[in-house]
Amino acid sequence: MKITIENAKKVLIKYLGKNTEKVNHSIRVAEIAKKLAEKCGENVKEAVIAALLHDIGKSMNEQEMLNLCLRRETTLYDFELYSYTMALHGKVGAIIFKQEFDKSIDPIAFDRIKQAISYHVAGGEEHMSKLDKIIYIADNIEAKKQKRYENKNIRNLVGKLENNEKIDIDEFVKIIIEEKKKRAKQEGRTVNPLVDNILEK
Ligand SMILES: [Fe+2]
Ligand SMILES: [Fe+2]
Repeated sequence: MKITIENAKKVLIKYLGKNTEKVNHSIRVAEIAKKLAEKCGENVKEAVIAALLHDIGKSMNEQEMLNLCLRRETTLYDFELYSYTMALHGKVGAIIFKQEFDKSIDPIAFDRIKQAISYHVAGGEEHMSKLDKIIYIADNIEAKKQKRYENKNIRNLVGKLENNEKIDIDEFVKIIIEEKKKRAKQEGRTVNPLVDNILEK
């Protein structure tokens, strides 16, 4: 399948169509990703497609995710295996993306979108690209999720975007990770240790 926004919508419905909440979340993330991409001079079409597809891995249950990752010899971390298997949905989404879309037509866009889907949970082995960061931010500040953070720092980020203020992508990422850590600590959870790599890189 050719990499287009129309086809991304079809694939989103194919995998998450039964779950209206997840479809709506993906559409809201795409709207924010579009705004961020426009502001940062990033490829808008790729940002929208990656955002629409970022959670398609959630169409599988934990066992199916594990089986698929093991079949594909995907690198798995302790946190994903023992603490929170759902954290694999980014890697799983990237595998589904590879199955559905044709790399030969636009190999650069293909690789960039695939990585953004894979990295949206907590980064990955490689340096996070600007596109990866846009999807990561959009996913974390979209309206419904935002309510999870009764937090002025996240609200400020959303406000900056809405008021069309100048934004610093890396600062956004840093604030989101700090808030995630703070919240995990309050709730006695461990946060995905991979996020520390995002800050270091
Ligand atoms: Fe996700
Ligand atoms: Fe998401």
